[in-house]
Amino acid sequence: MSIKLFFELTIDYNLKMNDKAVVFFSRDGSTRIAANIIAEKIGAELIELQEEKPNRNFLMSGFRASTRKHAALSGDPWAEIASCNTLILGAPIWAGKGIPAMNGFLDKIDLSGKHVYLFTLQADPNLRSSGQVIAHYTRRVEDAGGTVDGSIALPGNSPGKTGSEKDIRTTLEKWSLFNN
Ligand SMILES: Cc1cc2nc3c(=O)[nH]c(=O)nc-3n(C[C@H](O)[C@H](O)[C@H](O)COP(=O)(O)O)c2cc1C
Repeated sequence: MSIKLFFELTIDYNLKMNDKAVVFFSRDGSTRIAANIIAEKIGAELIELQEEKPNRNFLMSGFRASTRKHAALSGDPWAEIASCNTLILGAPIWAGKGIPAMNGFLDKIDLSGKHVYLFTLQADPNLRSSGQVIAHYTRRVEDAGGTVDGSIALPGNSPGKTGSEKDIRTTLEKWSLFNN
């Protein structure tokens, strides 16, 4: 077998075997940092959710989150995760709630037989509301047929600022996802 063919087959095999994806939404970069670290550590594909009509207005975004709105998304992230067995879903907390982009993603998903891990980012160093937000997403995952095998609440930063990669990485090191 030629070296070129060997490498082509290896790349093809790796692409087909990548059954893990980190699916996330990030407005100010903190969740993107966490998603990158996780994807690198477990060798997962990265899928960033984008709202079809992004709105950076703080009050409007908070209102939409607090009233549990569901955002329409660009592209087809559902097709991208169809062959994955393990999904790691990450999102910031807004107004003490989950966010419209992740609500929208979970609307149209079939998670039958899939293992899901959840992570949240937020400004509050005491990580208030993270338990309720994770419980909310857990219900949605279970309604879609999946199981939640773990979750973690991570420190982000104030709205408009990106969190410290060092702090995010240090908290992530303790996550059982990496220690199984
Ligand atoms: C509209 C809005 C509402 C927010 N509400 C909260 C909140 O209730 N509690 C909190 O701890 N942080 C809150 N934050 C801060 C974000 O969770 C924090 O900035 C997080 O790091 C953002 O992640 P990102 O950089 O990936 O967008 C809010 C931010 C925005 C934009």
